[in-house]
Amino acid sequence: MKIALIGYGKMGHEIEKIARERGHEIVCTIDINEEEKFSSDSFKSADVAIEFTSPKSALSNYTNAFKAGVPVVSGTTGWLEHLDEIKSECDNNGKTFFYASNFSLGVNIFFALNNYLSKLMNLFPDYVISMEETHHIHKLDAPSGTAITLAEDIVSNVDRINGWVLEENITTDTPDNKLKVKSFREGEVPGIHTVIYESEADTIKITHDAKSRSGFALGAVLAAEFTKGKKGFLGMKDMLGDL
Ligand SMILES: NC(=O)c1ccc[n+]([C@@H]2O[C@H](COP(=O)([O-])OP(=O)(O)OC[C@H]3O[C@@H](n4cnc5c(N)ncnc54)[C@H](O)[C@@H]3O)[C@@H](O)[C@H]2O)c1
Repeated sequence: MKIALIGYGKMGHEIEKIARERGHEIVCTIDINEEEKFSSDSFKSADVAIEFTSPKSALSNYTNAFKAGVPVVSGTTGWLEHLDEIKSECDNNGKTFFYASNFSLGVNIFFALNNYLSKLMNLFPDYVISMEETHHIHKLDAPSGTAITLAEDIVSNVDRINGWVLEENITTDTPDNKLKVKSFREGEVPGIHTVIYESEADTIKITHDAKSRSGFALGAVLAAEFTKGKKGFLGMKDMLGDL
């Protein structure tokens, strides 16, 4: 299939490599200050555009791709305040958009494990729940989109938790029933997420530790293959089913 890349940074390059290995053609790459390429014939010829840019630019990239009639698969994190606008474009204006806060298969298995464990731990109020995530120093948003997905699943499954808070934003007014999330930025770490349950007696931890970006990139290419020819707002649950 024909793929356009919006954002030609670390993820864009990794996706290009994997897409070519899977026999796809990269028909257009658009990086910062190349907006005019959205109206090019090469961009319009793409079956799907894969977008990995930055929180600030994501929404205008989606809008530009939609105007050109090209469905979007996006992994950019930190833009979710605009989620309803994008869902409405899909539901009311026939657009196609696939979003995942994390495209790796392993992380999606980890999401399922987090869901199961948090439902179980709802029954054991002696455990204090917290979360940590570590990423490379170039990451612009904190906590990570993956951490937010994990936190929101915990919030919906555990009655004693009502929302999450980034540790650096905690004040004396922060209620005790918020899930504490710590974000660390170190070196070139691709992404580590740990959910911690701590009681007087013991600690239970689950961790996902990405070894490279290739798992995210493969998932994004698989999502593009899945998205071709479909309509509406799509996500990993549509592609992988209920794990
Ligand atoms: N969902 C996932 O599985 C997943 C995995 C890894 C990274 N991410 C997210 O993907 C995004 C990109 O990550 P990265 O590591 O490739 O970052 P990066 O900084 O290496 O690359 C981003 C690229 O986007 C370009 N860019 C910025 N503004 C643009 C614009 N308006 N139009 C087009 N291009 C623009 C930059 O010049 C850069 O080349 C981040 O938000 C990151 O959190 C998501």
